[in-house]
Amino acid sequence: MRNQKRLKIGFSLSQTWLNGNAWLRADSEVDEFFTGDHYVKLAQKAEAAKLDFVFKADALFLNMKSVGGAHGLSSLDPTLLAAIIARETKRIGVITTISTTFNPPYVIARQLQTLNWLSHGRAGWNVVTALDGAYNFGYDEMPPADERYKQAGEFVETVRKLWDSYPNEALIVDRESGVFGDTEKIKPVEHSGKFFKVAGPLNVPSPGYGSMPLLQAGASQSGRYLAGATANAVFLAVPDKESGMEMRLDLRERAVSHGRNPDEIAAMPGLHMFLAESREEAYELYRETHGNVPTEQRIASVLSISGLDLNGWALDRRITADDLPPADHPVRSRTHANMIRRVIEREQPTVGELIERSEVLSAGHWVIIGTPEDAVPEIAEWFEDGAVDGFIAVPGGSVPCVNLFFDRLVPLLAEKGLFRQEYEGETLRDHLGLNG
Ligand SMILES: Cc1cc2nc3c(=O)[nH]c(=O)nc-3n(C[C@H](O)[C@H](O)[C@H](O)COP(=O)(O)O)c2cc1C
Repeated sequence: MRNQKRLKIGFSLSQTWLNGNAWLRADSEVDEFFTGDHYVKLAQKAEAAKLDFVFKADALFLNMKSVGGAHGLSSLDPTLLAAIIARETKRIGVITTISTTFNPPYVIARQLQTLNWLSHGRAGWNVVTALDGAYNFGYDEMPPADERYKQAGEFVETVRKLWDSYPNEALIVDRESGVFGDTEKIKPVEHSGKFFKVAGPLNVPSPGYGSMPLLQAGASQSGRYLAGATANAVFLAVPDKESGMEMRLDLRERAVSHGRNPDEIAAMPGLHMFLAESREEAYELYRETHGNVPTEQRIASVLSISGLDLNGWALDRRITADDLPPADHPVRSRTHANMIRRVIEREQPTVGELIERSEVLSAGHWVIIGTPEDAVPEIAEWFEDGAVDGFIAVPGGSVPCVNLFFDRLVPLLAEKGLFRQEYEGETLRDHLGLNG
């Protein structure tokens, strides 16, 4: 095994196992979608399996096109959820998602520092530039992706300065001398940049667990640049092992070019798994989940991801690179648009073939369909071949699939020495191996 290292495993609390038709199942627990207890229960299961972290993706808009028949990105606020999860767990990392496009850095620095106190150093931040929702914040349209990433870079820098402005050593709290804070050690940040002007200091001291781990998602050139400069783990969408190897190597090289240790950036693609007791049942679960997604909905998905309008095309018509919209056609996520472009450039699929692909149905994630025993060798191979440092579990299809992940797949990985049997550290930095 590579350097005797072990997989890093996170669990996505976005209820992907309710996607497609799965929420209609009698055992889907969909009625608990908006209860905090549900997320706490999942986090406790993830902790019992000794996972590195749970994390909740987020959106700041409601998808009115899909909410009639699906959750349409309905979602509780992930940072408030993280706070109750922190309270009800002891060891697992708790990562929230916060956009750098629509929030003020001072407020976010403060919320995250608070979460780090509440969780005793288990907090993490998934830095996203947001997919949509500009109209909820006084803008007519989303700022261009490159601009959002420039703002994200400055946002992260400002938040980190704020975290450092009130260091743990400045917290004296000595009754005898009457000294609460050491004013010599508390420094303003006086940040003045293109996007933000913040004086500081923050009014929440550092809890002293080291720099908070950052997760990043978004794999365009500017997304990778931000990840290389700042991220400790990257939530990737990679449909095949080769893309994983390319992406992981690129992220490691970028970290080095920023003077960082490449082992401080973990490539963690989403692993969309359909697990069941037999292979046949697993395929049935996959088909049940996606089978009734109507062709029009799949074609609408191709259009919204890539800008390619296949309405009115015959299912057996081939699509070639010439059919693609210009490369700079505005899209929500260049990462996801490029995945569809790549399939078309490489394989010239028919319309029917394209709309069956993971890039259209499952956001381009690595998909495993089978028993937990089937999943182990594939995960081991991706890990040993350097395609991943771990993965973020994105179970599909059903609650029993989620349970098979926790109760069977993770213990199997641990038995094979691919994953920890017990927690060794206390903080998220410890779990991710960032403390040496
Ligand atoms: C795997 C993955 C997960 C993402 N999760 C979120 C999310 O939870 N919330 C969000 O606002 N944006 C999310 N994004 C969007 C990115 O933060 C980014 O805004 C978008 O992908 C555009 O960047 P790109 O051009 O680098 O793809 C995600 C992107 C990817 C690839």
